[in-house]
Amino acid sequence: MKVLIINGPNLNMLGKREPEIYGTRTLDDINKEISAFAISRKCKADFFQSNCEGEIITKIQSATCDAIIINAGAYTHYSCAIRDALKGCGITCIEVHMSNVHAREEFRHTSVLSSVVKGVICGFGADSYKLAIEGLVNYKI
Ligand code: DQA
Repeated sequence: MKVLIINGPNLNMLGKREPEIYGTRTLDDINKEISAFAISRKCKADFFQSNCEGEIITKIQSATCDAIIINAGAYTHYSCAIRDALKGCGITCIEVHMSNVHAREEFRHTSVLSSVVKGVICGFGADSYKLAIEGLVNYKI
């Protein structure tokens, strides 16, 4: 199974950004761990990060994978354009967040993406991505 992992704005700052919430590992560190985990589950993970809404949409539109795992960062809470791209791409999508967005500020409790994806995982740090892969493999969604 080929999985595309998309990270949105500010996730390139992992390691420096609010370590008390997101930990001290960089995105590169986390991606290496996810890549190895994916191989152990007979998957191939590709990675894309952008701070720009349009670039994320273009990536979703041109994706040729079996599943998309997306952490859209703050776009999660208001980007109808990313929602439309996910809804229209014809690929199984999983929304992930490192933090438990429901235990944080009120504006993070709303996701405009959740109702167009297959599943949502949040609150497990970098393991949220691995749990999404596990879900895709185990439940064959
Ligand atoms: C996040 C949660 C979002 O609210 C926030 O804007 C992020 C990261 C998470 O992974 O916990 O950038 O998606």
